[in-house]
Amino acid sequence: MITSPWEGVPTVAFGGDYNPEQWPREVWEDDVALMRQAGVNMVSLGMFSWVFMEPEEGVFDFGWLDDLLDLLHAGGISVDLATPTASPPAWFYHAYPQARVRTRDGVPLPLGPGSRGMASPNSPEYRTAAVRIATELAKRYADHPAVVMWHVHNEYGAPVGEDFSDNAAREFRLWLQRRYTDLDGLNEAWGTAFWGQAYSDWSHVNPPGPTPSVPNPSQSLDFARFTDHQLRQCYIAERDAIRAHARQPITTNFMANECPTTDLFAWAKEVDIVSNDHYLTAADPQGHIGLALAADLTRSVGGGKPWIMMEHSTSAVNWQPRNVAKRPGEMARNSLGHLARGADAICFFQWRASRFGAEKFHSAMLPHAGTDSRTWREVRGLGTTLGEVGEIAGSTVRAQAAILWDTESHWAQSLQWRPSVDVDAKERIRAYYERLWRDGITTDFAHPESDLSAYRLVVAPASYLLTDAAAANLTRYVAQGGTLVVSFFSGVVDEHDAVHEGGFGTPLREALGVSVEEFLPMRSGERAALSWPEPDGGVRELPVDTWQEAVITHGAQVLATFASGPAAEPGYFQDRDAGAGTPAAAAPDGDSAPGSAGGAAAGDGRAGTEAASHGMPAITRHSHGSGTGWYVATKLDVEHLAPVLGAAYADAGLSPSTLPEQVEVVRRHGSGSDYVVILNHSHVGATVPFESGAHDLLTDAPLSGPLDLPAGGHAVVRVPVPDSPEVD
Ligand code: GAL
Repeated sequence: MITSPWEGVPTVAFGGDYNPEQWPREVWEDDVALMRQAGVNMVSLGMFSWVFMEPEEGVFDFGWLDDLLDLLHAGGISVDLATPTASPPAWFYHAYPQARVRTRDGVPLPLGPGSRGMASPNSPEYRTAAVRIATELAKRYADHPAVVMWHVHNEYGAPVGEDFSDNAAREFRLWLQRRYTDLDGLNEAWGTAFWGQAYSDWSHVNPPGPTPSVPNPSQSLDFARFTDHQLRQCYIAERDAIRAHARQPITTNFMANECPTTDLFAWAKEVDIVSNDHYLTAADPQGHIGLALAADLTRSVGGGKPWIMMEHSTSAVNWQPRNVAKRPGEMARNSLGHLARGADAICFFQWRASRFGAEKFHSAMLPHAGTDSRTWREVRGLGTTLGEVGEIAGSTVRAQAAILWDTESHWAQSLQWRPSVDVDAKERIRAYYERLWRDGITTDFAHPESDLSAYRLVVAPASYLLTDAAAANLTRYVAQGGTLVVSFFSGVVDEHDAVHEGGFGTPLREALGVSVEEFLPMRSGERAALSWPEPDGGVRELPVDTWQEAVITHGAQVLATFASGPAAEPGYFQDRDAGAGTPAAAAPDGDSAPGSAGGAAAGDGRAGTEAASHGMPAITRHSHGSGTGWYVATKLDVEHLAPVLGAAYADAGLSPSTLPEQVEVVRRHGSGSDYVVILNHSHVGATVPFESGAHDLLTDAPLSGPLDLPAGGHAVVRVPVPDSPEVD
């Protein structure tokens, strides 16, 4: 199997996208000299060069690329050679206007050339042209010594994802026929008995275009699956064309959590090495936590193997409303943040800032200001740092906690007419992730049907769509000793977006000991609270908003009840038979409170007399087999998730970090040594304890005691195994 181009080589790759066609040839030599100065050892070439490689259909001009590859090779710089299919030439659109993407509203894109974006992923003409140029490149450069890797396309799914063209309609029908065999299967899966939508002929089935009322959600969900599948087929066609001639590893750059149209667990199976692009969102004041999330997700989709940070920015981007420049030291922290979470290559968009075009205000490794600039000095500094930590390459991150990630569920949850527009899968994932990050617990992302046995804690912040197989997997995980924390609006629908028989939450009832009788979404701006019992016997009110539910217990212990809001209204208990419940003392599984949280009541049916007087259950805990299932029936913010997750950590046997919250510490495990990356995101200095034997790779000196890190500082420390401190 082909993996990293640097397999066994103690080198972190460093470089960026190189767009030399924007510059006269004289500049190329300067570029190579400056790349060497900065410590650059790899560049990505060609992603927007189709028209220069194939100026007319079937007419190729590779002379300039031959020269460039030779020049780079002579300078000791490796190349990640891209296929240029993210930006077809004007001649292509002129010859094949039918190959354009059509928007949901029927507008063909582009209306004329003049931007970028792939043609329709469903167009046979586009597929043919893309495979042809990929083949030509692979035949010509398979044996070029500069080419260490292939980079197919650029960011599948952006800016083009969904397509509603005639080609799309045809391919969608074929895809559905493969999935459901016949129309009876389709009608059942899509629930077309509703609103009289049953189909009697395949030619009547179409992508979900504009509709008078909301489109069929099952159809929309399948269209999202289809879109992802078609994009992936485009990638596979180019990949296979390259593989027919070349042996180097092949990748395509993902956009981790930012791309709405790609299911990266499926994509990662198709690449030799995972690569990702990540840009800070200026509006997010904790952008480094979003960065960590993207990096952990990237590592996780690739099964934990080292990956490539293919694009990030040296400073500001150009496409946000307010493009905030990185502060001094921030670029290095960002880069080491990716490295800490498994990246073996740190690359940027782009090498030299463009003088013209839509991205001329985007930062670059070599900015418009030239080499007498802060950015350039920091780029050189980063090159030196990465040179000093080369031995980290190949080491891996091990997480004891995982957050469930299922793109299909996110697609389904984001369709129209859900109980509340304020409930957002990605928001909940970020909130739980951020809590774990602040507690210093390194986290993987895992698909709900995957093997979870390596994790002490699994968190399900947004499992709206849960298949029976996933529910069985989670139930087994708990039975075998795991700690599972499930947030509200989970286990609601099956793979067709149909409500699970038996009601909300039914698939997880065994693991969690609860079900949900009714959703109680809150009004915009409405605030309420839950009563959380403190270890000292007191009760703390935790603020909640957005959502409450009428939770029915089936053996779970009620840890917290709603103190106010809709689920605190006494009426929810009125029609329940007071005698129907099993008294708390006789709860079938005898649940008892975990470390810090005292239980209110357990039983079957309602929350128990004491809890009922304060409202319906808000947080429950249930023993199942040798593990524990937690349920959180409302939205708590990051700060107020702390006591709840703290109690769940106690069940899971996890210890949160005792370092200040903004001091990020991540460990990579190597053979013979581990590596601890420390990033101080705070405005004050921090001290991190180390045992003897630790070695600071950036000063190349043994650590004779704790490491003192200035505000904004970073460090990479080699520690011996197994005597190293437990700073996962
Ligand atoms: C990426 C893209 C690059 C460049 C960059 C700017 O999404 O792949 O080509 O446009 O954004 O931030």
